[in-house]
Amino acid sequence: MAPKPRILAVGSTNTDFVAKVNVVPNAGETIISDGSYSFVPGGKGANAAVAAARLGADVVFCARIGNDSNGKMLRATYESEKIDTRYLTTDKSLPTGLAAIFVESNGANRIVVFPGANSALCREDVEEALTSYPDALLVQFEIPLDTVYYSVEQANKGNVPVIIDAGPIIPGLDLSKFGKIEIFSPNESEAEALTGIKPYDPESYIRICLDLYSKLDTKYVVLKLGHRGCYVYDGKMGIAIPSYYVTAVDTTAAGDAFTAAMTYEYLRSGDIKSACRYANAVGALTVTKNGALPSLPTEEQVIAFIREN
Ligand code: RIB
Repeated sequence: MAPKPRILAVGSTNTDFVAKVNVVPNAGETIISDGSYSFVPGGKGANAAVAAARLGADVVFCARIGNDSNGKMLRATYESEKIDTRYLTTDKSLPTGLAAIFVESNGANRIVVFPGANSALCREDVEEALTSYPDALLVQFEIPLDTVYYSVEQANKGNVPVIIDAGPIIPGLDLSKFGKIEIFSPNESEAEALTGIKPYDPESYIRICLDLYSKLDTKYVVLKLGHRGCYVYDGKMGIAIPSYYVTAVDTTAAGDAFTAAMTYEYLRSGDIKSACRYANAVGALTVTKNGALPSLPTEEQVIAFIREN
C-alpha cells in the first residue's frame, strides 16, 4: 500500500459560536431568532486539518490554542481524529480563538473571528513543525501574515509544495511576498478582492486567473465557485469543473474542506483535475450538514457519494 501523504496544516483553530437565523439584523436592530445556537470546533486551519485526516491523510497540525477549556476540548478533538498535535502549542496568555457565525436559512454564513491565540502563531512554531518532513504545506490567512510568508519561504527551502487557501482576505496582504506556490485557491469573494474582477462567467474566471498568475509564482490557480464547482488554470488553459447538486444547509467550512481534499488527492494522483473533482464532492457533502468540524465527511462517505452521483 502506498504511504499516506503527509500534510502539514499551519493555521487557525477556533471555537465557533454558530447561530441559525432567518435574516441577519440591520444596524440598530434586535431580532429574536427562532433558530438554534451551538458551540462547535472550527477555524480554517483546523477545518482543513480535520478534513484531510478524515479522508485518510497523515496530518500534522501547527497552531496555537489558549490555556482554557475551549483549548483543551479542541486538542482532545484533534487527538481523537488521529492528527499529530506535537506542534499544537498552548499559549500562556491569550484565549483560544473564537468565531461568531450567523447562518441564514439558505445556508449562507457571515463570520467574525476573534483571533486570540491564533495571533501568536510564530516563525519558531512553523520552523519546528517543518521538521516533520511533510509532503505538502497547507496554509490560509487566519494567522499572522508574517507567519504565512515565513512558512512559504521555509517550505520552498525544503522543496515542500505549498498550497494556499486564500481566505480570509486581510489588510496588508502582499501577494508579491510569496515565493513558489503549487496551488493558489481563493473563493469567489477572495478572488474579487484580490483582482477587482467579479467571477460570474468563464470569461471573468480566466481574467481572474491571468491576473493572479501575473502576481504570483504559482503552478495552478483554482477558483472555488461554491455550488458552481471550481475553475482550474495551469498557465495555459482554464477549465470549469462543475460540482454536484445538493441542498445546502450550512456552507461553513466547505471551502476549507475543498482545499484540504484537493491537496490530499493532488498528492495521491499528481493530477489537478481529478483532485478538483474529488474536492467538489467533499465540498458538496460538507454543505449538507451543520457546523464546521461536524460537517466534514469521511473517506467512506465521499466514496459512497461519488458512486451514487
Ligand atoms: O471557514 C470557516 C471557518 O472560518 C469557521 O470554522 C470559523 O472558525 C472561521 O475560521
